[in-house]
Amino acid sequence: MLNHFNEESRKDRVIVALDCEADKAIAIAYELAGVASWVKIGMTLYYAYGTDLIKMLKQRGYKVFLDLKFHDIPHQVEGAARSAAESGADMLTMHTSGGVPMMEAAQRGAIAGASNIGSSVPVTLGITVLTSMDETTLNQCGVARPMQDQVLALADLAVDAGISGVVASPIEAAALRAKMGENAYIVCPGVRPAGSALGDQSRVATPSQAFDNGASHIVIGRPITDADDPIAAFCRIAEELN
Ligand code: C5P
Repeated sequence: MLNHFNEESRKDRVIVALDCEADKAIAIAYELAGVASWVKIGMTLYYAYGTDLIKMLKQRGYKVFLDLKFHDIPHQVEGAARSAAESGADMLTMHTSGGVPMMEAAQRGAIAGASNIGSSVPVTLGITVLTSMDETTLNQCGVARPMQDQVLALADLAVDAGISGVVASPIEAAALRAKMGENAYIVCPGVRPAGSALGDQSRVATPSQAFDNGASHIVIGRPITDADDPIAAFCRIAEELN
């Protein structure tokens, strides 16, 4: 069976993380409309501009990844996922460490919200281990096993809960793809074009390496938003992927 992500080009599976001031985010989004397919709204913009921004981006033709990383009791997370789906989000996140009942609740909420607005169900993703974390910060949180074992164990919970896939670093993507099969969403932040600043990211790879390792989608923020010419930065990444 063909992997369904292969029906879209790699360029159309690059998600631009708009983690900057609203004016700049909107200017980048306007210029990239029709060039990039996906944008990601995180807490920085959502807590300031809420669902209006999602609607504006949808009107420009984008698929919107709403990355609020839910982590609460199942009842609250079910409501959050329902609201996110009703706002038009095409992809949403929760922490796998919230457990299987919490992720099942998120899936129920996403289905209900999509049904309420007559839209397709958003992609539901479980965050495994943040890509800014390394073995030291993981150990400080009380996790003794190696990084990849922890990521794979958390991915098992996402599969058990019946959500669409996981978020993990490109370093773990190959093991995740082998374990989860060809149709799972494996979305990788921690992506840096050669020569880009790492910032606070620890477990990184280039865009091509991330896809070669098995990512279905990659997330890139500051290498685009902090560039002198963000549009040119996106286009360079797209060319590398072609
Ligand atoms: O600027 P940069 O490319 O590092 O942005 C990465 C984006 O991916 C950020 O918006 C961050 O919130 C998100 N993310 C991450 N690691 C995760 C999950 C999401 O960096 N595990």
